[in-house]
Amino acid sequence: MYSEKVMDHFTNPRNVGMIEDPSGVGEEGNPSCGDIMKMYLKVENDIIVDAKFQTFGCGAAIASSSMATEMIKGKTLEEAWTLSNKAVAEALDGLPPNKMHCSVLAEETIHKAINDYLVKSGREPWGDEECSSCGHDCDTCEL
Ligand code: FES
Repeated sequence: MYSEKVMDHFTNPRNVGMIEDPSGVGEEGNPSCGDIMKMYLKVENDIIVDAKFQTFGCGAAIASSSMATEMIKGKTLEEAWTLSNKAVAEALDGLPPNKMHCSVLAEETIHKAINDYLVKSGREPWGDEECSSCGHDCDTCEL
């Protein structure tokens, strides 16, 4: 059911934990399953130099957090913002259709952490384009 990459990132997640004195923190929950994801970013010159996460959730959510933090490290804020849940799922060699929403949690949590950083540094937060059918900002609505 799950790819080897999902199992690898679930059993051996990268970037678990917190960052002391983070530049931005984002937390997002999925009301339907109750899972919660928290991400910490360290930003220097608008580049994400470190990212860590704490996820209280399913295996797909943990694997998505692990992969997403790997993918945004070293990226600009704009590049990290445009990382879609679909790209995270593809990097994991796919997620079962009923688990795609778990990767949406990662995308939304990154957006919250980036906006937390922007607001803390006196800038305007960026907006999300919400999906008209599910209300999330995903580009692969599975609902
Ligand atoms: Fe809740 Fe996966 S089932 S995030």
